[in-house]
Amino acid sequence: MSKRKKPSRAWLARHIDDPYVKLAQKHGYRSRAAFKLIEIDAQDRLIRPGIVAVDLGSAPGAWSQVLRERLARPGGAGIDGRIVALDLLPMEPIPDVTFLQGDFREEETLRRLEAALGGAKPDLVVSDMAPNLSGIASADAARMSDLIELAVAFALAHLKPDGALLVKCFHGSGYTQLVELLERSFARVAVRKPKASRAGSAETYLLGRSPKKINDLAIPPARARAGNTRRMQAVEAGNRTGKAPEGAGE
Ligand SMILES: C[S@@+](CC[C@H](N)C(=O)[O-])C[C@H]1O[C@@H](n2cnc3c(N)ncnc32)[C@H](O)[C@@H]1O
Repeated sequence: MSKRKKPSRAWLARHIDDPYVKLAQKHGYRSRAAFKLIEIDAQDRLIRPGIVAVDLGSAPGAWSQVLRERLARPGGAGIDGRIVALDLLPMEPIPDVTFLQGDFREEETLRRLEAALGGAKPDLVVSDMAPNLSGIASADAARMSDLIELAVAFALAHLKPDGALLVKCFHGSGYTQLVELLERSFARVAVRKPKASRAGSAETYLLGRSPKKINDLAIPPARARAGNTRRMQAVEAGNRTGKAPEGAGE
């Protein structure tokens, strides 16, 4: 979540007892989220030396730390590969990780991200982006879908032919459509729910491998981007139900 709210008593109690929080502290990770990527990578072998990786929604930086660890050259001689991380919020620097602060929904941020990649095509795009919740269920679900669609559009336009996109989503309104979007966009799609993702949370990760060619897609990324903005404006104009998507922001 981009706006940090005061945690509830229940959240604090759960956080203090959480084994992944303790493990994160022990290993020096900035958040327990590190173990989600570690677990998915153990199964799917996404992070290999030499890759170019993009980390969307990177703050506070646990996934970037994991990426950096995996690409580290022996003897502390930098990394074999490249990591570009992006978030709305500031992020404490991580050696060898290029960080950009900006809103991924904005065209200008996309241009800066492309410039940071310097023409290099990513092998891996990971997106743990989650929107700032408004408490309006339909608007929150639309914001999440918007971020996912933009991540898919970015992946399709930039990934190497055998590249992969790992993207966070919430099992709830619009989930089936997002899975279908991934299936239309990638040759192989898998659903991942790592143990480190809280059992009661709707959080799920979708993994798409080998992007299909943009010309074969129903919605070209540029149109999807424009359509998203219009759809967001329509949703934000009304439709108050008062409930946030379950598990958002875990
Ligand atoms: C669950 S946190 C990510 C945790 C991160 N993977 C880690 O390991 O530390 C979600 C992040 O998505 C970011 N985010 C949400 N909307 C965004 C947007 N439009 N552009 C960039 N980042 C965004 C939030 O600021 C927040 O830091």
